[in-house]
Amino acid sequence: MSPALVHSISELRRLLAPLRAPGATIGCVPTMGALHEGHGRLIERARADCRTVVVTLFVNPIQFNRSDDLERYPRTLDTDLRFCEQRGVDFVFAPDAAEMFPAEPLARVDVDRLADRLCGPFRPGHFRGVATVVAKLFNIVQPDRAYFGEKDAQQLAVIERMTLDLNFPVTIVPVATVREADGLAMSSRNARLSPEQRRSAAVLYRALEAARERLAAGGSTAEQAEDAARAALAGVPDVRVEYLEIVDAEMQPVREIAGPVRIAIAAWIGDVRLIDNVLFEPR
Ligand code: PAJ
Repeated sequence: MSPALVHSISELRRLLAPLRAPGATIGCVPTMGALHEGHGRLIERARADCRTVVVTLFVNPIQFNRSDDLERYPRTLDTDLRFCEQRGVDFVFAPDAAEMFPAEPLARVDVDRLADRLCGPFRPGHFRGVATVVAKLFNIVQPDRAYFGEKDAQQLAVIERMTLDLNFPVTIVPVATVREADGLAMSSRNARLSPEQRRSAAVLYRALEAARERLAAGGSTAEQAEDAARAALAGVPDVRVEYLEIVDAEMQPVREIAGPVRIAIAAWIGDVRLIDNVLFEPR
């Protein structure tokens, strides 16, 4: 059955109200559309866990710090609807910008410290925009569970902390990164790469793996791991690294590796910015 396509907040609330009951779990998968297998994995997890599955499709203007990125963001409602239908989604909530932001929001959500490093300095206001829209979506959908990808590890950390600090009654479910055959993390932005750039892009994951292998082989400092990653990146055309950093669960840089860490990278391939990360847990 095709999902119900809902554009208005009041209509979604009206449709969801009779579905709320003890044990009748509602799962929410927030997305910006242009759905791919990465999103697909989140939806499948939600479908397996919950009675009712709501996918939100909203290209959130307040999380874009570059207007060209916002304008070029792919919008593919028809194919997204078919994608959701094939995965048994019950509701697709696709509001327009005026429905979500009838006026400039004056109440906004900041998650300090966790948003300060990695993408934070390079995308001013980004995590505030993400946390604010996710808080709104949580209040609109009122899900029991919400699904987020580890591909965006900093975003996941920000949302987990927001949920904890503001007592949203929502269980955040992290889902492992889905990759292409050559290791490139799936992303809606990959479609903007030329064939040569697409080949170069696979080096991001190779670099993260080189760093992880260096640590697994007994490297105990971030510097050793970062050197291994940079060696993998050397000479690959068209790749400009924005950051390569090893961080703890609060997204703070780590020098000596003693506990679980994330090795995180952001890089520009031409005019496309990609991010990725892997987890390393010392034995
Ligand atoms: P979007 O980039 O569409 O991603 C929606 C969700 O899919 C996020 O939780 C993201 O981490 C997850 N995802 C994307 N690619 C993935 C992959 N290759 N493997 C696993 N999960 C993947 O992230 C956003 O939208 C927005 O910031 C949003 C949270 C919707 C707020 O606007």
